[in-house]
Amino acid sequence: MKASVVACANLALIKYWGNMFEELNIPLNDSISVSLESLQSTTTLEFADDHRDTLELNGEEVRGEGMERFLFVLRHFRALSGVTTPVHVASENNFPTAAGIASSASGFGALAHALYAASGVEADLAKISALARLGSGSAARTPIAGYAHWHRGADHESSYATQVRPANDMRILVTITSTEEKPISSSRAMKRSKASSPFFVQRGNTANDRVPFLLKALKEWEFPTIGEITQREANNLHAVINTTDMGLYYWNRTTIEIVHRIKQLQDEGVKCYYTMDAGPQVKVLVMPSDVGAVKSVLAEITEIEEIIDSGVGFGSQLSDHHLF
Ligand code: PMV
Repeated sequence: MKASVVACANLALIKYWGNMFEELNIPLNDSISVSLESLQSTTTLEFADDHRDTLELNGEEVRGEGMERFLFVLRHFRALSGVTTPVHVASENNFPTAAGIASSASGFGALAHALYAASGVEADLAKISALARLGSGSAARTPIAGYAHWHRGADHESSYATQVRPANDMRILVTITSTEEKPISSSRAMKRSKASSPFFVQRGNTANDRVPFLLKALKEWEFPTIGEITQREANNLHAVINTTDMGLYYWNRTTIEIVHRIKQLQDEGVKCYYTMDAGPQVKVLVMPSDVGAVKSVLAEITEIEEIIDSGVGFGSQLSDHHLF
């Protein structure tokens, strides 16, 4: 009745930002992501009668918003499976939590997988993906290796992710510009965008329109097209975020500096593309032959705290490494 799962964070190339149906995280648009090999969560889950439901993250008991989302996933799992035994969960990330590199995606993805594995209730990837989605939308993409497509669907069963293509040799340079916790979680921020940004619905439509083009480019591996769509998507997302409320900014100065330097490299003919999420980190997509050129430019920006050079990762998987 115990299982451990290791899961990678994922980076959206076409972003999720807001729901059609709030409670179940049924999104406004499809999204597409790449799994990040170097950013991992490990989660151990045990069913035991003498426990109360508890969740520990990096050694500390989780309370507040995180605990509510965990209990929400648990309630759904119990209703779907009939398993009502209390659970104890411990999770660890090998990267900064809640600073805009999708720790909730790897965490909830690992949780959903571990719930099914430890209970012995059979589930395919679609079921694990749909359950993970209830914790955090982007977690729907976590069970999938390589490149994932989250189909928005219309209800709980039809909103889950599938694989577009397996991992290949693309690199993702994750520049850490700050490890401070972000001012507002993405799930709360996207609700505010829905209520206040005049571009919210338009962005969702544009994202949906881009999906077939990105799917084709991924399948045929047209890297510049993949990069251009990704960068345009990031610009669209941040136009919506920046026009939320009186202006919401996840960027810091270093974020902007990196964006300018990547654009300069593009002007010089280097095929590298930036994207950002609900946080100040910039992620750069680049093929192995150009990693050196990009890294030497980034090395000149002394404010960057760390650069994580990641390959394309795997789907969530069982592990023998138990945290307790
Ligand atoms: O899954 P959430 O609620 O953490 O939202 C993720 C939002 C973005 O990271 C900005 C985009 C995405 O698709 O991952």
